[in-house]
Amino acid sequence: MRWPKGLDGLCYGGDYNPEQWPETTWVEDVELMRRARVNLVTVGVFAWSRLEPHPGEYTVDWLDRALDLLQQGGIRVVLATPTASPPPWFSLTHPDALPVTADGVRLRHGSRDTYCAAAPAYRVAARRIAAMLAERYRDHPALAMWHVHNEYGTVCHCPHAADAFRRWLQQRYGDLDRLNEAWTGAFWSQCYSEWTQIDPPRATQYLTNPTQVLDFRRFWSDELLAAYRDQRDLLREHTPDVPVTTNYVFGDWVPVDHARWAREIDLIAVDHYPTETDGRAEEQTALAADLARSWSRPVTGDGSPPSAGRHRPWLLMESAPNLIYRYAEGTAYAKEPGRMLRHSIAHVARGSRGAMFFQWRAPRGGAEAFHSAMVPHAGADSRTFRSAVQLGEALRLLAATDTAAVAARAAIGWDAASGWALQHPGLPSGHISYADEVAAAHRALWRCGITTDFVCPATGPLDLTGYRMLVLPALYLMDDAVADTLADWVRTGGYLVVSYLSGVADPDARVRLGGYPGALRELLGVRSEEFLPLGPDGTVRLSGGRTGRLWRERFEAGAAEPVLDYVDGVLAGQPAVTRRSVGAGAAWYLSTRLDDDGYRELLAVVAAEAGVAPVLPAAPAGVEAVRRVDGTTRWLFLFNHGREEAVVAATGDVLVSGGVLPSGEIMVAGEFLPASDVLLTVGGGPGRWPGAPAGVTGILGRGRGSRRVRVPPGGLLVLREPDQPVGNRNHRHPTPSGADGHRH
Ligand code: GLA
Repeated sequence: MRWPKGLDGLCYGGDYNPEQWPETTWVEDVELMRRARVNLVTVGVFAWSRLEPHPGEYTVDWLDRALDLLQQGGIRVVLATPTASPPPWFSLTHPDALPVTADGVRLRHGSRDTYCAAAPAYRVAARRIAAMLAERYRDHPALAMWHVHNEYGTVCHCPHAADAFRRWLQQRYGDLDRLNEAWTGAFWSQCYSEWTQIDPPRATQYLTNPTQVLDFRRFWSDELLAAYRDQRDLLREHTPDVPVTTNYVFGDWVPVDHARWAREIDLIAVDHYPTETDGRAEEQTALAADLARSWSRPVTGDGSPPSAGRHRPWLLMESAPNLIYRYAEGTAYAKEPGRMLRHSIAHVARGSRGAMFFQWRAPRGGAEAFHSAMVPHAGADSRTFRSAVQLGEALRLLAATDTAAVAARAAIGWDAASGWALQHPGLPSGHISYADEVAAAHRALWRCGITTDFVCPATGPLDLTGYRMLVLPALYLMDDAVADTLADWVRTGGYLVVSYLSGVADPDARVRLGGYPGALRELLGVRSEEFLPLGPDGTVRLSGGRTGRLWRERFEAGAAEPVLDYVDGVLAGQPAVTRRSVGAGAAWYLSTRLDDDGYRELLAVVAAEAGVAPVLPAAPAGVEAVRRVDGTTRWLFLFNHGREEAVVAATGDVLVSGGVLPSGEIMVAGEFLPASDVLLTVGGGPGRWPGAPAGVTGILGRGRGSRRVRVPPGGLLVLREPDQPVGNRNHRHPTPSGADGHRH
């Protein structure tokens, strides 16, 4: 089945809030959507008080008319249930359903997300409004997908949450002795003798119990999932052939284990707002897209390689056309013009079934009045809207790539629970962030030009079939089954890189005894006795001119060979990085955070040994290359994140070329042209560029038989590469003779 239902090609559009506008504006909206080639909009996300102004009284005629108008305009709809923002009447009628903070403060209405997902009254009201929408719109021809709620992510500590937590704990542990053991209740006199004594981790005198906090986060993820399932199940009953999704939000505050949720969601949808303004924004984009693609992988493996067909589709559901708020800092930053185009297509390159935005039209008021939109306050006569039109054209031209797979031979481990456990202040360093550890590993592979999947060792049997290389950054919690799978995989030819703080604890966050990293000691051939964390600015010199940060360990490299040593400080002369040959593979241990260049070089060495090749080995710095493959057809996506034109050794037919003019206008053109020396020149020249707005000139050049293409600064190029001869698809990258070049 093609999802979203009834849509061919890639999805393009955003959150659309007709309830904020007079109907005359709707007519203009549809006309502008058509101009921008928008084909999908998310309607009704926060419309509860408009749909149900009084308990049980519905006003839906406006939504009828809005959906009809969109349908007539050829625009399909992701219809949202509005349950992320209950109306004021709901909070006043059910004050017990308002959320309570860890400090015991009951929040009031006046924003959004003012509900407790465990409160029975909230769940009933949410199901009722979802059922009303399902009954009314089940046969509406515009309906392409259901969107439940918005960004599940709020937490509550009220008595309803406490009751539900106790029920969850009873299911998990069966009896209190097991719970007391798992929570190490003997420490600080925390053994419970009745289930009713157990609370969510509320404000308390000093450090909280780490396993209580961890279990509460696991429980709350399950509780939110149950709230999602309530709605999903009833929507499915009404419309079994319409997919149901919810939009994931990123952040270490998010109390949702996205990997665990994945099997319950028809189409994985993510919202992505890079938080960095420099080159890191591109790394964050690639990381988010790789995570989304990996979450869309079936959870239980069937033994087949994780290439074509193993990822279900996913969708970038929200992103910002321009200004992104940083609410915590009370500021916002503007995306450079080219980033809207490059980031959107970068998501598509990594498997997204399109690019969607928050939001279609900038609101006149409300808390996010200045958040960017495809139609800004200035209206359609604006750079942002013209860019939206160009992006719509690019997505149309890319429709042929839609079903192609993104194949990766390298993976990184991802475990939400390990991230939560590492947030506890009782850990030896408050400067370790799981998200940063994962990002550093991903960045290193990204800078190697290697496409990376994520695997989620805690969400079911770990299936590493098809991967040649795996990096486990700070995978703190590990059960024996995962450790055994890793050992078997390495023995049969896998290349494993493990960083500090991996395998240290069991899934109850109880430390494995006998030396760190308990679960992996034998496989890595090391036994670590002491942690010597570094302060936030502390560094340690390593051999080979490299630097370590954040962490150090004193360990014996028994069966492993030292690769890098500590050069200064109390560990001078001791190993810092080791490698152990195991069967047909090898296992590496990193006891400190390598500087970015060192990490990249190390992973390049491991990749070369593992036979994992970069997408484009000779890609110049600043050029990102991603390949999608559909049978024998191969699409090469090239992004130039630099400020200079890039010449890239690649060939094929040009599907789309895009660039940024000095004025900030985005330009997109596409034709099946042979790749040429000068594919695109922007900002001058005599010729009119196809698709360019009046007054903008440029040259779409042609060449003959070239094996080099030029990608404009801040721009992109998508090529259909010549078909690859059969038998040459899994080219093994030769192992360079200096594979252990880090040794000293
Ligand atoms: C989230 C929400 C949107 C909006 C944006 C603003 O992604 O889903 O409703 O608040 O953030 O960045």
